[in-house]
Amino acid sequence: MEFNDLGLAEPILKALSAKKYVTPTPIQQKAIPVLLEGRDLCGIAQTGTGKTAAFALPSLDYFARNPKPTPIKGCRMLVLSPTRELAAQIAQSFRDYGRFLKLSVETVFGGVPINKQIRVLSAGVDIVVATPGRLLDLIDQRAFTIKDTEIFVLDEADQMMDMGFIHPLKRIAKLLPRDRQNLFFSATMPKEIEALAGQFLNDPVKVSVAPQSTTAERVRQQATFVNQAEKQALLHIVLKNEDIDRALIFTRTKHGADRVVRFLEGAGIDAFAIHGNKSQGQRTTALQAFRQGKVKLLVATDIAARGIDVSGVSHVINFEIPNIAEQYVHRIGRTARAGAEGIAISFVADDERPYLKSIEKATRVKLEIVPLPENFMEAVRNLPKPAPQRKGAEQTPAQKAKRADGQRRYQDQQKSQRGTPDKAHRADGEGAKKNFRRRRGGGGAVGTHKGAVQRTGAPR
Ligand SMILES: Nc1ncnc2c1ncn2[C@@H]1O[C@H](COP(=O)(O)OP(=O)(O)OP(=O)(O)O)[C@@H](O)[C@H]1O
Ligand SMILES: [Mg+2]
Repeated sequence: MEFNDLGLAEPILKALSAKKYVTPTPIQQKAIPVLLEGRDLCGIAQTGTGKTAAFALPSLDYFARNPKPTPIKGCRMLVLSPTRELAAQIAQSFRDYGRFLKLSVETVFGGVPINKQIRVLSAGVDIVVATPGRLLDLIDQRAFTIKDTEIFVLDEADQMMDMGFIHPLKRIAKLLPRDRQNLFFSATMPKEIEALAGQFLNDPVKVSVAPQSTTAERVRQQATFVNQAEKQALLHIVLKNEDIDRALIFTRTKHGADRVVRFLEGAGIDAFAIHGNKSQGQRTTALQAFRQGKVKLLVATDIAARGIDVSGVSHVINFEIPNIAEQYVHRIGRTARAGAEGIAISFVADDERPYLKSIEKATRVKLEIVPLPENFMEAVRNLPKPAPQRKGAEQTPAQKAKRADGQRRYQDQQKSQRGTPDKAHRADGEGAKKNFRRRRGGGGAVGTHKGAVQRTGAPR
């Protein structure tokens, strides 16, 4: 079967041939005909097998055949994604596949100025790709409505229905019109979450290319048992011994990711970190540098585990292994995409062995156990010191100085208001802090609301 056989509109076929796509992947072959009929669908297929095109192409075809003015402050299609980077990437795919159609595609996510988004959305757009937090923020500000949505997509659907997102998702679902087409996609779909999907889907067709939680086909999966404290030394040896084009290194925490980068820098190895404590500018720069091959190593939290498509990632290294098996499937799926091969290496500390077991059970794959290298203890002893903490807790020296200045001014103000040095001294301590917190917390709906949005919508 070729794309020409699927009956897609001519401008879409032209865009596909420009991208050198000839044969639809199995999920595309199965999902596209069903979606062209307008049915709801839950599609499960391994990482890197073209699920984005599976939902984008039939939707673009629908818009090509059913042109309509964009609804004011609204959209015709809404795609939700768990992270900003994935939202941007999906939007780019829509632009690529739809380049010969006159459709507008916009992203909506946090970490960037909201006013620009409000301006862009005011006339309405055809396709919006959003993370839930900022979308709800815009809706609450009456800057946007989703009541005219004709097609609704949940990418990484199981994560979108999981704890962190289910409440915003339920709110969003209530604001969507009843009559709409729903498309849910993921590489994983645990049973209990699949049951939940019934709340959002209308008589869906289920398309599974492989059993859920099947890992990408051409990825060699290895594990090495190692003490947590000695993982950094192992990482340096692996990076030296392996033939690495580009590697994604996953840690469990943001702090852990920064630490790994500092140790790499200390050893003269260039790496960037991407996680939720970085500014959006830093996140974009890091991913872009990695995509362009300007930096070979990207150290990430699970923020980069899902959906991110960077060609040429030869290795995924789990510096810490995830405690949720599905997350392992997504992480290692950053390599071996679109028919390529890849290697996934997991560093397993004693207390992580149960996680390894549950990963092996869920994926039905036994990892190849690789012993510690011969020169390992020497590498542990000679581990170079980490580079100093340059940017602190994501603060530049200038930001730190500004903050210290602000605190000093605030304390001075307290002193002059309270009079005696004694009282002022107390005010510098707990009292001042409490006062400060109360003022911020009691600052009204805006502050409270921002917090709420970050908790629910903003990716880790
Ligand atoms: N039919 C096709 N022919 C050639 N390349 C394709 C085809 N479909 C998709 N691709 C390419 O395959 C890569 C992976 O696609 P995509 O990101 O959609 O995978 P996915 O299934 O969504 O993976 P994940 O589960 O990790 O999100 C992309 O680089 C895309 O351009
Ligand atoms: Mg995807």
